[in-house]
Amino acid sequence: MLEVYAVKQEEIDDFRLKSLIPYLSEKRKDKISRFLRQEDIYHSIIGEILVRKLVCEKLDLKNNQIIFENNNYGKPFLKGYDNLYFNISHSRRWVVCAISEREVGVDIEEVKAIDLNIAKRFFSKKEYEELMTKNNQLSYFYNLWTLKESYIKAVGMGLSIPLNQFTIIDRDKNIFLEDQNRSGLYTFKKYKIDRDYKMASCVKGKLQEDELIISSVNEIINDFKEHI
Ligand code: COA
Ligand code: MG
Repeated sequence: MLEVYAVKQEEIDDFRLKSLIPYLSEKRKDKISRFLRQEDIYHSIIGEILVRKLVCEKLDLKNNQIIFENNNYGKPFLKGYDNLYFNISHSRRWVVCAISEREVGVDIEEVKAIDLNIAKRFFSKKEYEELMTKNNQLSYFYNLWTLKESYIKAVGMGLSIPLNQFTIIDRDKNIFLEDQNRSGLYTFKKYKIDRDYKMASCVKGKLQEDELIISSVNEIINDFKEHI
């Protein structure tokens, strides 16, 4: 099972937001104290609160029983449980979290005008050639970008997997990975949640069932508070 939660930004009382900080990890508190932009603070707090709410619900834990660790490439995971994985992504208006019993990655990006020449560097030759055949190249660029990011985030190795050394072939219902010994071992999904954003997830193995859940920030905070 794969569940993907998407939380759209809305006006939220600053006091209510900041009152959540004591329930976060020390690492997160430290990070937040160094952020200058309100948006980064918001993303960081809501991202972790969303994960905490989900983990508490799925494992029937209290918030203070959760311990996060990071792998060598910075991917956060849950200490002490090898049957629940999650991954967060945020982009301006959205904070999203994928949760599954298998290794998972998720990525959301706002579609903004960019110089498509960067695809020459970040995409494989095959991907770049495919991009050049498309009518809406900007849309396809972000589509492939989020798919590629969801994959490196599922593996958990970040950019130490060179983006131009693997290929994702996107035939809509059928999305296929070509990457040495990992070819075909991951399942991809695309989500349409907002016309200005692209979003994709990637899980290890075959995907039996999946669900997209759109929630409000206040709902997430209220649910979280049941577990403190
Ligand atoms: N693997 C998986 N997830 C990771 C991770 C890793 N190695 N390191 C961090 N994360 C998680 C964290 O939870 C992080 O959120 P947090 O810091 O609030 O806890 C979250 O991923 C950030 O994801 P996202 O919002 O999608 O950020 P990003 O797209 O800027 O970065 C990275 C994702 C850090 C994993 C990395 O792949 C990166 O730097 N990507 C940008 C690369 C790029 O230029 N891509 C072009 C593609 S064509
Ligand atoms: Mg991203």
